[in-house]
Amino acid sequence: MTRPSPIVAPSILAADFAHLADEVRLVEQDADWLHIDVMDNHFVPNLTIGLPVVQSLRPITQLPFDVHLMIDEPRRWAPAYADAGAYNVTFHAEACDNPVALAKDLRSAGAKAGLAIDRDTPIEPYLELLPSFDTLLVMTIKAGFGGQRFVPELLDKVRQVRAAQESGHLELRIEVDGGIAADTIEQAAEAGADAFVAGTAVYGADDPAAAIRRLRGLAAGRGGHR
Ligand code: DX5
Ligand code: ZN
Repeated sequence: MTRPSPIVAPSILAADFAHLADEVRLVEQDADWLHIDVMDNHFVPNLTIGLPVVQSLRPITQLPFDVHLMIDEPRRWAPAYADAGAYNVTFHAEACDNPVALAKDLRSAGAKAGLAIDRDTPIEPYLELLPSFDTLLVMTIKAGFGGQRFVPELLDKVRQVRAAQESGHLELRIEVDGGIAADTIEQAAEAGADAFVAGTAVYGADDPAAAIRRLRGLAAGRGGHR
């Protein structure tokens, strides 16, 4: 089975919020998606950006927006991100009692639907829901903050979903988020991930665009060269 080419999604959580438009332009030529972390100080202790910022950023770039909602009550808030032009809207399984219904709402609002699984949540109860989703985001840290250390054991969830995918007809991007960098991305790719969020590894680099190219090369098994 051939894998789709890897998606690299820089996370603007690690960018300079005083110059967001410039920070987006820095990665525009090389990123596949722009990962936008929305945190509400309830589902996670941190508070980041919300709908008005997504609406303001939408016209300044062609990049597809990969919105990662770390919020309570996603059924109430998530469709507005689809209306704002997000390409993919991911909400957390832990925050939603009817993930399939919300996936349908998001798809009818014109977005792809993503399900996120936090560090302490097992994947098994959600396997049967995956045909309703376009992306599955497996946290490789505890959701809430950038710059944390990658937890390799969490890739077991990626392996499980990849195995389920290879034995069935599941079409799904498997995305990993948290601590993805040059020294961790290859193991995530080997486990079966095909979309990679990177905050610190991109925006903490001297040349964010070059960092993205290197990550994509490593994920594709080309030793960091394109
Ligand atoms: C954290 C966010 C991540 C964060 C990753 O909860 O979901 O997207 O930006 O940051 P790094 O790549 O620095 O671990
Ligand atoms: Zn994220």
